[in-house]
Amino acid sequence: MLLNIENFSLILKGSDGKQLPVLDHVNLSVKPGECLGIAGESGSGKTVLALSIMGLIPAASVFSRSGGISFRDQDLVNLAEEKLRKIRGTGISMVFQEPMSAMNPLLTLYEQIAETVRAHLSNLSEKEVGNKVDSALRRAGFDEPWKILRAYPHQLSGGMRQRAMLAMAIVLEPPLIIADEPTTALDAALQVQLLAEFRIAVKEKGHSLLFISHDLGVIRTLADHLAVLYSGSLIEYGPAGAVLSSPAHPYTFALVSSLPRLIKEKKLPHTIPGHLPSPDCRPTGCVFSDRCIRVRENCRKEIPGKTKISSDREVRCFYPL
Ligand SMILES: Nc1ncnc2c1ncn2[C@@H]1O[C@H](COP(=O)(O)OP(=O)(O)OP(=O)(O)O)[C@@H](O)[C@H]1O
Ligand SMILES: [Mg+2]
Repeated sequence: MLLNIENFSLILKGSDGKQLPVLDHVNLSVKPGECLGIAGESGSGKTVLALSIMGLIPAASVFSRSGGISFRDQDLVNLAEEKLRKIRGTGISMVFQEPMSAMNPLLTLYEQIAETVRAHLSNLSEKEVGNKVDSALRRAGFDEPWKILRAYPHQLSGGMRQRAMLAMAIVLEPPLIIADEPTTALDAALQVQLLAEFRIAVKEKGHSLLFISHDLGVIRTLADHLAVLYSGSLIEYGPAGAVLSSPAHPYTFALVSSLPRLIKEKKLPHTIPGHLPSPDCRPTGCVFSDRCIRVRENCRKEIPGKTKISSDREVRCFYPL
């Protein structure tokens, strides 16, 4: 296994001293060459999960953490910052939700990417660094990289910035790339183009990809497996095709129903009533119980455990579809 997340829970400190349990016993793994999609609505914990893997949650905002995250059998949760820094880049890289905040506004595109290369491969000549930058930009969809090498981040369009982030993420050819909503800010046509570039950049070199999005339509184009996160809990997991064509959790069903062509027979209404609960006021019992139309008495009292519905599929629901 390349990445293994085992029973990982994270409680953050709220601004007023409140404890915010943002991830609750999450289990996930990514195999070499696999693309795992993580879906969930805004606030479900997708970014905090990605940042936890990268070791980028500031210690000052953590109330407590438990469980494990390992990369190639190396424990990441308790790894020294120096070793984590080495893994970030050569082992795991991340394409952030906000490319502007992840780029240095004072560096040209060439320097941003070259810096990453130099930081990890100090023995390369400048010509070799340049070749790596050029090749990464081409793989990220820039056909004529020399035209934009001297541009600063603010001079690039949103789509170009996301491609530049992709180039930065792949330049060292890490085995695992985490992409957090990399296309959300783009218009539909650009999204499709960028996703195609992602697929090529990732698949042709055999990278693994952890792809985060609130948009199941986007995940459908890329993911081998799909995990659905709801209010910090992983409520459904399985092969992406199977989960999308016959979702087992009522929440996944409601999400999938908003993608009309995925499902043949509709049994539930399309909209999900209510809102995602904030981490400090989840319902007792099942996290989805206050919005679920299949809810029964026990759902409000007990938390459902994981039920295996086939060799490769799991759901956390007392009454799956
Ligand atoms: N540094 C922090 N301190 C306290 N709470 C936080 C912090 N970062 C995130 N949270 C809370 O953790 C929960 C999960 O947030 P997260 O950003 O992971 O959601 P998300 O699924 O990535 O949402 P989106 O789709 O909007 O990006 C939210 O309730 C959020 O308010
Ligand atoms: Mg997020």
